[in-house]
Amino acid sequence: MNNILDLNLQYANVSEDEIKNTEEKVANIHNNIINKLGAGAEFTDWISWPENYDKEEVEQIIQKVNDLKSKGVEKLVVIGIGGSYLGAKSAIDFVKGSINFQNNIFFAGNIISSSLIQQIENQIKDSKWGICVISKSGTTLEPSLAFRHFEKKLIEKEQDNAKDLIVAVTDKEKGTLKMLAEKKGYKTFVVPDGIGGRFSGITPVGLFAMAFANIDIKKLLHGAKIAMDDLTKLENNIAYKYAVVRFILNTKRNLFAEWFISYDSDLNMTLEWLKQLFGESEGKDGKGILPISAIFSRDLHSLGQIIQDGVKNTFETTIWINESKDEIIIEENKDNYDGLNYLTGKTMHEINKQAFKGVVHAHSVEGGIPNIIITLKDKSEESLGYLWYFFFMGVTMSAYLNEVNPFNQPGVELYKKNMFTNLKK
Ligand code: PA5
Repeated sequence: MNNILDLNLQYANVSEDEIKNTEEKVANIHNNIINKLGAGAEFTDWISWPENYDKEEVEQIIQKVNDLKSKGVEKLVVIGIGGSYLGAKSAIDFVKGSINFQNNIFFAGNIISSSLIQQIENQIKDSKWGICVISKSGTTLEPSLAFRHFEKKLIEKEQDNAKDLIVAVTDKEKGTLKMLAEKKGYKTFVVPDGIGGRFSGITPVGLFAMAFANIDIKKLLHGAKIAMDDLTKLENNIAYKYAVVRFILNTKRNLFAEWFISYDSDLNMTLEWLKQLFGESEGKDGKGILPISAIFSRDLHSLGQIIQDGVKNTFETTIWINESKDEIIIEENKDNYDGLNYLTGKTMHEINKQAFKGVVHAHSVEGGIPNIIITLKDKSEESLGYLWYFFFMGVTMSAYLNEVNPFNQPGVELYKKNMFTNLKK
């Protein structure tokens, strides 16, 4: 049993018997996952990736980051959208903190906005900066527009040296970005064919920007490997158990939405990452659980009302981080005007934990909103790698329980078609 992630179903309102009833179905699906027999199996290379990833490529990523830094590059504009954005962004916030001005990473091309581009330019213009552009196809409009802009700016600033400051993460042999990078001599890393965007944080798609932010990417992959060893077995598979419980909550209790909850704002983007993972993997053929999110205690002062007293058609999955590395201890105040001296000697984390316990009870026992609790050891690289892999396996089992292909996303194409028609492409 691992000591990184614990799944607590005490407040989930699903009985062991109900879970047992799905055992045969889960065993069949497990067999299909492991033997690559399910729908979309050509996109399951992530299963063995933590063991089989190209070690040489990871060394090259670290080397290129060191090379950029030795050239004095302090800031990096990371351009990508969807799976080519959320892995790196969520990992950097998770491990390094969401208000960490030392990261010096600016994410562009994930929205169509002059204002965002201008704000990034204001932040980087007086420093030496580089670009990491990430796109499998190279034709996605949002990142292509941002890259066209920042590439021009960098060439204007650095002239011939610009080409050494640009990295492209793209298809290994085809596509607009691959052609462009080759023509202009930009260093490239590969978006693997067998891993879809939302599973690609553990590949160069996520790893390059993370390495630039001083994240230990080998430790992250090691965490995913520990999870791989635990969660590719049928027995005691907590990712499968999580999938079964949410399947029962959806199909037997008619709960249509899942709140992903964290008590730590550094996980804000992890919750966004989860929305993509579950939304794109499950939401098809008229099925799926709507993934929504909240950060507590912040959102208890807004959404808390509707969760507690509103319509009872949702459940919660809470990610609680067990250890806190930065600790502020409440000090005694002589005057005690604010009446807070009863908290003297307690840490912020201890107080947050009591809030968490109080909320779980209020929402599940008193409010009738089932709560699945995932406790993660800490915010280390290893824990994040484990967490990601847990959700990869969980969403795969979930989608197959619902009889949909977890690995395609046909529904994201229609808006593009309409947009390109409007733009007269
Ligand atoms: O999950 C997905 O496949 C999508 O979100 C893609 O990652 C996203 O659309 C970006 O595509 P590309 O990397 O081709 O620019």
